[in-house]
Amino acid sequence: MTERTCLTVVLAAGEGTRMRSSRPKVLHAMAGRTLLQHVLEAVVPLGGRVAAVIGPGMDAVGGNVRAALPQAECFVQTERRGTAHAVLAAKPALTRGADDVLVVFADTPLIRTETLRRLRGALADGAAVAVLGFHAADPAGYGRLICEGEALVAIREEKDASAAERKVAFCNGGVMALAGRSALAILERIGDRNAKKEFYLTDAVAIARADGLKAVAIETDEDEIRGINTQAQLAEAAAILQTRLRMAALDAGVTMVAPETVQLCADTQLARDVTVEPYVVFGPDVTVEEGATIRSFSHLEGARVGRGATVGPYARLRPGAKLGEKVRIGNFVEVKASDIGARTAANHLSYIGDSTVGEGANIGAGTITCNYDGAEKHRTEIGNNAFIGSNSALVAPVKIGDGAYVGSGSVVTRDVPADSLAVGRARQVVKEGWAERLREMKAQGKGRA
Ligand code: UD1
Ligand code: CA
Repeated sequence: MTERTCLTVVLAAGEGTRMRSSRPKVLHAMAGRTLLQHVLEAVVPLGGRVAAVIGPGMDAVGGNVRAALPQAECFVQTERRGTAHAVLAAKPALTRGADDVLVVFADTPLIRTETLRRLRGALADGAAVAVLGFHAADPAGYGRLICEGEALVAIREEKDASAAERKVAFCNGGVMALAGRSALAILERIGDRNAKKEFYLTDAVAIARADGLKAVAIETDEDEIRGINTQAQLAEAAAILQTRLRMAALDAGVTMVAPETVQLCADTQLARDVTVEPYVVFGPDVTVEEGATIRSFSHLEGARVGRGATVGPYARLRPGAKLGEKVRIGNFVEVKASDIGARTAANHLSYIGDSTVGEGANIGAGTITCNYDGAEKHRTEIGNNAFIGSNSALVAPVKIGDGAYVGSGSVVTRDVPADSLAVGRARQVVKEGWAERLREMKAQGKGRA
């Protein structure tokens, strides 16, 4: 049997006024990705084509679609006249035909690929329409699924429902699958004679039935179809997503004694035997290799942490931070755009930016790479086994050779050759008896020593 082809239409034309934000609703983010990207992510493994329907003037939304999925087509729904009207904005894509047509909402980011596959399975089994249903804790506002035995006979929108129908708790989650051979014919017959004067996608069920075609409901749990309309709902969905990501990390062999305090991104990669202490935040694009430990209150983004390395507590790894095996980055150390070689340690209070550090080096407390001259960024190179004394300022561009020492408190402005010592600070002056004389003069009511 040849595999069934698929077209997914992602509806993203909503304005999202209830977010009270200047940003389009579907561009709000959780776990490092926009709501729209989460939906696309669930759709991509299905294979097939993707069409996104966006509102007029929503260039940023179109840009986000193209960035996430360059092969997706974008269509503009010029007037907002209902979900069926929105799907028909993608008519050129529908006309090209597919065995299965899926309709998903871009503001429903917790939808899972597995569930979309189940809906397609119902089409493969002969249904013309398959609807994703759930039992709602509070059904208010949702379309109700009207069933007769196994068959789905209609979806009634809340505003059009009778008192008896409103008591039904089995609700429409919004995701629908339509058999491609009948999809367009059904969609084009949907009218707007209802309470909201909108073209309801949900009417596809009754129309299919009238044509003698089969409609079914596939059930999932409410969490998966949570739609986002407000900031509070965004926070709730983000919390559910965090739970999923933490469970996946634990299943992969990561140790977290307080996983509920750890924030992950959808793309965070933690290898087995990684330990993450409480209160760690992972921004986008972080990879941590086997056996590394990320200690409490650390913040990482765009970083790679090598095998057996230790980060934190209270460390910050910014984009381009690459730590080799067994590197130690301690408290109040910030690393940006720097490669740090194996076994090198920067244990306290440092800034390492735009640097290449060799293996086995020691970066003393308070070391700062002065990488910025107000206009441009410059690089610092520190060789293997170099020793940078505490409270040194390395003024880039500058190179510290292999095995070199930099004396504490130095301001290093010139390259330091391998195996040499550089001390760049004012010589210490000692005036013996000076303090004693000062005290005596004060006692006599005089001025200075
Ligand atoms: C819809 C369903 C309802 C279901 C609920 C689940 C219909 C008629 N109703 O209701 O049965 O229980 O979702 O959350 O489908 N959109 C457009 N263009 C439009 C209208 C909507 O792109 O002209 C998009 C919105 O951006 C949104 C999605 O379609 O992503 C759903 O629209 P919305 O108005 O939120 O539908 P509901 O009234 O919630
Ligand atoms: Ca909605």
